[in-house]
Amino acid sequence: MSTRKFAAVAAGITLAMGLAACGGGGAGDTSGDTDAGGDSGTVEEGGLIGVSMPTQTSERWIADGEAVEAGLTDAGYEVELQFANDDIPTQSQQIDQMITNGAKALIIAAIDGTALTSQLDAAAAANIPVISYDRLIRDSENVDFYVTFDNYNVGVQQATSLLVGLGLLNQDGSEGDATGPFNVELFAGSLDDNNAHFFWKGAMDTLQPYFDDGTLVVPSGQMDIEQAAILRWQQETAQKRMEDLLTASYSDGTELHGVLSPYDGLSRGIITALQGVGMGPTIAEGLPVVTGQDAEIASVKLIADGVQFASIFKDTRKLAEQAVVAAEAYLQGEEPEANDTETYENGVKVVPSYLLESDIVYADNIQSLLVDSGYWTAEEVESGVAE
Ligand code: BGC
Repeated sequence: MSTRKFAAVAAGITLAMGLAACGGGGAGDTSGDTDAGGDSGTVEEGGLIGVSMPTQTSERWIADGEAVEAGLTDAGYEVELQFANDDIPTQSQQIDQMITNGAKALIIAAIDGTALTSQLDAAAAANIPVISYDRLIRDSENVDFYVTFDNYNVGVQQATSLLVGLGLLNQDGSEGDATGPFNVELFAGSLDDNNAHFFWKGAMDTLQPYFDDGTLVVPSGQMDIEQAAILRWQQETAQKRMEDLLTASYSDGTELHGVLSPYDGLSRGIITALQGVGMGPTIAEGLPVVTGQDAEIASVKLIADGVQFASIFKDTRKLAEQAVVAAEAYLQGEEPEANDTETYENGVKVVPSYLLESDIVYADNIQSLLVDSGYWTAEEVESGVAE
């Protein structure tokens, strides 16, 4: 992420915090909680905030971590930012250390949403508010707030982009000219990530009518999330599964028309597998339509080049901004403002949430969505590499 982006984030946060200060309390019910932090009503200046991100192997988490850090620093806090290399014990240790170091709030994007119970117990005992970042932390009552995107709708958008790519829908939502039937294969994210289930549900609800009337067919028959899931969202695992599917279900000449992929890293692994058996290399030359998520720069270039069909843009700058607003609210002795208090049940309670909207990226809106908003520069799209 460039310095220019940090400046934009910082400006946005300043504005958002001004609004939050006027907004008053949120809708979350934490009455009687001892875990909400800052409930003495005193206003704290500065202090340490722990930010725990899952991995640096995907550029979105690096951008998220840096944007949260920049926003908090700008607001006068010290920040301990850690990436856990997709290793659960590493993330647990890093969070333990943040608590030992005196963090006044924690912002956590979990690797395994069910694996942090003892860290959250310790945070609650120390009266440290916990903000679950992008991925819901499950099985703990000590999650105070959740900032994320409308994850069900992200799944709807992924499936919609597949239908558009196949010509069954137009981008405006109207019916397309194609009739099918089309052969497709389905991929899901990591089962220990709560989001993966929301993406899958949104996508499958959208695709189901097309399966029901035979417009879409899954030749492998693998239509359960357990069969489609890719542990830790690993690109290589997705490539291997795609290669196996091609061998098992397509070596007799059966044509493959589309692949539902819930993350750009997986999409690139899938595309490598497809090109590896001679398909494409572009959609115009017969490569199946492959979807994605995160608008990673390598995939944005592939979309611009007509190789990957679509992605989902989740503006991580806005998510970071909301995390900062939430942390700031707690440290001011207030409740952050939620805009959803129903959807995110974590196994123990419904966590008050702030949801953001996402957009489908197609080749023809890269400029308006990503370049004009300053998310990527035209040069980055051209090269496929973040500067
Ligand atoms: C995030 C996605 C991301 C995936 C893999 C999910 O929890 O919501 O944006 O593609 O993790 O990193």
